[in-house]
Amino acid sequence: MKTAYVFNGPNLNLLGTREPQVYGSQTLADVEALCRKACGELGLALDFRQTNHEGELVGWIHEAGKAQAEGKAQGVVLNAGAYTHTSIALHDAIKGSGAKVVELHISNVHAREAFRHHSYIAPVAKAVMAGFGVEGYALALAGLART
Ligand code: DQA
Repeated sequence: MKTAYVFNGPNLNLLGTREPQVYGSQTLADVEALCRKACGELGLALDFRQTNHEGELVGWIHEAGKAQAEGKAQGVVLNAGAYTHTSIALHDAIKGSGAKVVELHISNVHAREAFRHHSYIAPVAKAVMAGFGVEGYALALAGLART
């Protein structure tokens, strides 16, 4: 069974109480449960993580790319949070490791502030999903399972 990685970046540990009008009322634990259910149905093992540190995300992308090269991983659903809009390091990590990444946002970033419209991840991502709320995680995993 291959592993699907779900990596969450800064401030996503605050889901449930953080701007619920934008991100909804479900917690990160609820999102993990939703992903676990989706992976069960898709025949994938789930490795679900969150960090507030950019370098940790870089290391995790490298790890996922290596596991993928060894035939052990299906790819990564990545909600890099604000690092999406700032991180050349994440861009380079995805490019350099060869990890298959679906960029994910709970909110429709293109309907929000202009500084959220640019992504350093999109040009090196397999696909981009934004605006389906936390349900987008399950949809992204389904897409990953088909590629
Ligand atoms: C987010 C959108 C980002 O712009 C923001 O910085 C986040 C969450 C989303 O899931 O909608 O932290 O990635």
